[in-house]
Amino acid sequence: MKTITYKEFGGTGVLQATDEPMPAIQADQVLVNVKAVSINPLDWKIREGTMKLMSGSKFPKHTGTDFAGIVEAVGASVSNVKKGDEVFGTVKNNMKEGVLSDYVAVPSTLIWKKPASINFVQAASIPTVGAAAVMALQKIGKTTAKSRVLINGASGGFGMFLLQLLKLNGVNTTAVAATQALNFVKRWGANSVVDYSKENVLAKGVTYDAVVDLSGKMGYKNARQIMNAESVYINPIPTPIDILITPIKNLFRGKKHVVLLSTPAKETIDHLVKAIDNGLEIEVSKVFPFAQSQEAYEYAEKGGYVGKVAIEIN
Ligand SMILES: NC(=O)c1ccc[n+]([C@@H]2O[C@H](COP(=O)([O-])OP(=O)(O)OC[C@H]3O[C@@H](n4cnc5c(N)ncnc54)[C@H](OP(=O)(O)O)[C@@H]3O)[C@@H](O)[C@H]2O)c1
Repeated sequence: MKTITYKEFGGTGVLQATDEPMPAIQADQVLVNVKAVSINPLDWKIREGTMKLMSGSKFPKHTGTDFAGIVEAVGASVSNVKKGDEVFGTVKNNMKEGVLSDYVAVPSTLIWKKPASINFVQAASIPTVGAAAVMALQKIGKTTAKSRVLINGASGGFGMFLLQLLKLNGVNTTAVAATQALNFVKRWGANSVVDYSKENVLAKGVTYDAVVDLSGKMGYKNARQIMNAESVYINPIPTPIDILITPIKNLFRGKKHVVLLSTPAKETIDHLVKAIDNGLEIEVSKVFPFAQSQEAYEYAEKGGYVGKVAIEIN
């Protein structure tokens, strides 16, 4: 089968097209003929070696976390899908595994049937950012018609899901994004927008009940200025110190710093599929063929896209 691997940490130049034997499946696994893989920032954080404490330094490594495709074969104990089903899914350990290949073997618990209303690149865009958005919704907690939520860095995959889920829950949202993305974040439900290239959201004198920092460029200390007394700052890009220290510090402060680490699970995906049935849109603004996987990563890593970037495999 064809796959993309790398043998050292580095930029997109380390990515190589490789041939490997087809994976064998175990009793609880499903073999999927992959049609699309979406790109997540985690892919390049691992490839660049910034997460080597968790990813380890054993090479070659594969890349890509979320995929969609057609079931090719199922293990003896699999009952949720069958050969020929159109599915989407994710890997068990995103630090050690990668799905940018034309075949993958994954546990059946990490595979879900693709809604008929969406295509393979849209389905491949769901698991990591969709699950994180559902978890952010839970961490924001109870909201009322008066609640105000700020999403800083709202135009990528995570923001696209979160804005629309908040909209479905009737929450008032402000989205911070670049000029070219403002129309998209409005379409996804933002009640107001801030263009980060023209205005500083910290200087506008507006306060929020939750600040979700998807750009990682604001930080809890800055966010405090625009947080109401009992509000939350949600941080999906925590340092190991944040993970260890924030729960203790939060015991002594009203404005909480909440770390978000999500894993796609059945309940979360069911929530997202219901939202898709209720009109949640998945914008995949750029799709590359498998032969241009390196260019796809170069494009995504520059930023400036809206929604998701994906790779299609024929
Ligand atoms: N912890 C978890 O479980 C989890 C799960 C999913 C994702 N994440 C992380 O969450 C982050 C967001 O995910 P994503 O997939 O949506 O990434 P993304 O597509 O890269 O989105 C980041 C957004 O931040 C915007 N941005 C850049 N500079 C900014 C600035 N100065 N002010 C405001 N916004 C700015 C970008 O806009 P432009 O490109 O237009 O500049 C982009 O829309 C990533 O770091 C990802 O790794 C964590």
